[in-house]
Amino acid sequence: MIKLAPSILSADFTRLGEHVLQAVDAGADRIHIDVMDGHFVPNISIGPLVVRAVRNITTAMLETHLMISDPEKYIDVFADAGSDLITIHQESTPHLHRAIQMVKDKGKQAGVTINPATSLCVLDEILEHVDLVLLMTVNPGFGNQIFIPGMLRKIEHLAKMKQQRGLHFDIEVDGGINSKTIARVVEAGANVLVAGAAIFSAPEGVERAMKKLRESV
Ligand code: DX5
Ligand code: ZN
Repeated sequence: MIKLAPSILSADFTRLGEHVLQAVDAGADRIHIDVMDGHFVPNISIGPLVVRAVRNITTAMLETHLMISDPEKYIDVFADAGSDLITIHQESTPHLHRAIQMVKDKGKQAGVTINPATSLCVLDEILEHVDLVLLMTVNPGFGNQIFIPGMLRKIEHLAKMKQQRGLHFDIEVDGGINSKTIARVVEAGANVLVAGAAIFSAPEGVERAMKKLRESV
């Protein structure tokens, strides 16, 4: 079963609540919230206040994709704001195991994220401790970028590692997922699909865009 995770980075922020509820009503399995600090990635986006505001209007699962330096400093604040799952970039901390443990100590699900140029090898020691692995299929920082085709092999490789080790984490992909790319990433082994522009910038509206994505798988 695939899970769709609409990314509110492409939502209309003047009517964020409306957009979130449209996605939830259309069957979003979780809402993906992109946190950028202008340091780890070259863009600044959402802080804990927005997570709290979204939490206040829905019981849907909220996943927070931290794209920030020193993530350990902010885990508690994003957990307390209402995140259900927090993902940490492997590249953002020398103490990944500690960061993952901090997320779990808050009673939240923990995920690890890697950039397109980061090898799966760096995940070897952490895989058994996470609920989800997020593979970036674009370089993080902006919505509406083009999917990097070379990431398909990486998804396949991770799916194989998961099977060989008998682990149960979700494999999520983020960046450039649309009706043309979604079937290929699912075939490669991804089961959680983030989509921003393909959902919130779609001329046909959120509900029909989500239906189209599901039908394209
Ligand atoms: C990019 C973000 C993504 C972004 C995806 O750094 O992590 O979640 O919103 O946007 P699309 O689906 O438009 O490529
Ligand atoms: Zn993201």
